[in-house]
Amino acid sequence: MALLLCAARSEPSASPESPAAASRGVERQAFGTTPAGDSVDVFTLTNEAGMSMRVTNYGGIILSLRAPGRDGRADVVLGFDALDDYRSDAYAASSPYFGALIGRYGNRIDEARFSLNGTTYTLDANNGPNHLHGGEPGFDERVWRADPFERADSVGVVLRYVSPDGEAGYPGRLDTEVTYALTDDNELVLDYRATTTKATPVNLTQHSYFNLGGEGTGTVLDHELTIDAEAFTPVDSTLIPTGTVRPVAGTPFDFREPTPIGARIDADNRQLGIAQGYDHNFVLARQDRDTLRRAARLYDPDSGREMTVLTTEPGLQFYSGNFLDGSLVGKRGAAYGPHAGLALETQHFPDSPNRPAFPSTILRPGETYTSRTVYRFSVRTDPP
Ligand code: BGC
Repeated sequence: MALLLCAARSEPSASPESPAAASRGVERQAFGTTPAGDSVDVFTLTNEAGMSMRVTNYGGIILSLRAPGRDGRADVVLGFDALDDYRSDAYAASSPYFGALIGRYGNRIDEARFSLNGTTYTLDANNGPNHLHGGEPGFDERVWRADPFERADSVGVVLRYVSPDGEAGYPGRLDTEVTYALTDDNELVLDYRATTTKATPVNLTQHSYFNLGGEGTGTVLDHELTIDAEAFTPVDSTLIPTGTVRPVAGTPFDFREPTPIGARIDADNRQLGIAQGYDHNFVLARQDRDTLRRAARLYDPDSGREMTVLTTEPGLQFYSGNFLDGSLVGKRGAAYGPHAGLALETQHFPDSPNRPAFPSTILRPGETYTSRTVYRFSVRTDPP
């Protein structure tokens, strides 16, 4: 085991689940070797409060995230302990993108093509006729350069990946940098930066599936969700936005007040039928990229765990884990069935390169793509 950074500033508070939690710092260990022969590492980040997170530079995958609750810490993200589990045939067949960094384009692009400055670009069609999450392999299967750090208020790792000109069909070389910082206030702060050599669409996101009761302990249908959106973008039968922006008022998509996810998921609603639940982009209450604003809040009444999502992005894809079918078995040995976890993916809207009315995703040479998302963890002490 290579101990890279580990400044023992204080002992974390004891918890029933992790009595031997490490000191504040970042620990680096070998995680395995990819089929291409690249060795990858796993980084264990532990903050002052004893919250910890394991992340690998293979796909930037968050392997575990142990967040505090009324009765101690629990691992609140779906996934596996071993690299091979992220490379199995069963995993490839269901493509859940557990915990991974997504690029170059989070979400779908219609018929896997777009036109820019008079040129039509053809992308990998890896989701029916459409392009999903940057194609295969996307950024979720790339080996990122990793530089761990320890700062006054956080510990973390900077991941860098250079996507060559033409990769997956996209124009321009994209120099990408994603910083994961775990603050001493129990915030996971994600900072994205990218530059390009040619105009190209960019829409980076993080694809963790959360279950605040603990991964493998059941579904998220009892979790209460708030989304700060007045509208969402309805989709066609292949989950591509139709182009309309529909008010949530009076629909099962109205999460402006905290609402259990399961309360309306089986409602007779065409949009819920198409996606077998929620798998939709919510239009957040503002469109500028400069301010970090609350996008959502998720609360598990049983454990008291609460997660607040803040972002500079204009959209939030709420995916209620509809296509998890029990074929993948997670860290505690439980099969992940429908709604075993949910994703709250901060991003620009799906298919924006083909939708001029949506906020633009085009990055041009000389510009720097920047985006910030915060997942803030807290505990409500009031009993359920
Ligand atoms: C998409 C889903 C997809 C899932 C896993 C989500 O971001 O919205 O449609 O099934 O990723 O690939």
